[in-house]
Amino acid sequence: MFSYTGKTALITGASSGIGEAFAHSLAARGMHLVLVARSADKLRALAQALSEQHGIRADVVPADLCREGAAQEVYRRTQGLGVTVDLLVNNAGFGTYGGFDTLALEREHEKIMLNITALVDLTHAFVPAIGVFLSLVSVVGLLIWYILIARKLFMLAQGVSNEEAH
Ligand SMILES: NC(=O)c1ccc[n+]([C@@H]2O[C@H](COP(=O)([O-])OP(=O)(O)OC[C@H]3O[C@@H](n4cnc5c(N)ncnc54)[C@H](OP(=O)(O)O)[C@@H]3O)[C@@H](O)[C@H]2O)c1
Repeated sequence: MFSYTGKTALITGASSGIGEAFAHSLAARGMHLVLVARSADKLRALAQALSEQHGIRADVVPADLCREGAAQEVYRRTQGLGVTVDLLVNNAGFGTYGGFDTLALEREHEKIMLNITALVDLTHAFVPAIGVFLSLVSVVGLLIWYILIARKLFMLAQGVSNEEAH
């Protein structure tokens, strides 16, 4: 069984929502934390509050995980803190909604970078040493969604070529 006390968790998307709730919950179990998100001020305030409340060490590594190479940078900066990560919580992510043709392509690229690329890169960097990770990002949902779109576009294209044939 995983024992929390005195171990360290790195949580992405820790500045709000589920990631922040994870930070509170793991700190209450005696875990030290490395908090990652873009909002440096929110992370610092949370780290200070949790370390005062629970007597744990809480470090912040502000980063925009949509950027190429950001996950590797987070890994390097965490190593630089002299911290060994025992649990990786891949939580940072977002969804987009609406007709596919109405979605901004740049935002879709950011979503793939954050929900997939950063998750794979962080897991690849940290897991060989730790072996434990949680992923809250709906990667399966994202893939199913894209497959459905691809299928729909394929059917539409088929419909067009059938009409052209007649
Ligand atoms: N809420 C739900 O019902 C639900 C359902 C299924 C799956 N999920 C998944 O669960 C996770 C958390 O959901 P939530 O509702 O708690 O989301 P949220 O409240 O929107 O929080 C998202 C977190 O990710 C961080 N983040 C966003 N973009 C980032 C970036 N480019 N680089 C680094 N950090 C970034 C945000 O911080 P900054 O803005 O400070 O960077 C924030 O801390 C997400 O992956 C979501 O897809 C949620």
